[in-house]
Amino acid sequence: MTKEASASQIYLFYAAWASGKGYGGIANFLFRHANEERNHMMKILEFILERGAKVKVEAIPAPPDDPTGVQNCIDQIFEHEVDNTRGTYKLVKMSFNEEDWATCILCNSL
Ligand SMILES: [Fe+2]
Repeated sequence: MTKEASASQIYLFYAAWASGKGYGGIANFLFRHANEERNHMMKILEFILERGAKVKVEAIPAPPDDPTGVQNCIDQIFEHEVDNTRGTYKLVKMSFNEEDWATCILCNSL
């Protein structure tokens, strides 16, 4: 959940940067992607609540320094996306090994 919240915040940061630099298309894409990541966070939060567990809301790290340019922006976003995907795959593997099919299905839908 925290990883999705962090991803949303990171995409907001890059979207704002891109908008400020006049890259409207990139900004639009990233603002939408930020919402998508927040929706993932909410999906996990609701899943935890539906199962009667306690939701733990944690602090998220501050965004990195401004990108040096568009290529650097895209490279950093790609790295975040790869890291996020690795995190999701880890959850899929853990839930599969635990035969926790509900969690496995949730993770596959993120
Ligand atoms: Fe996500």
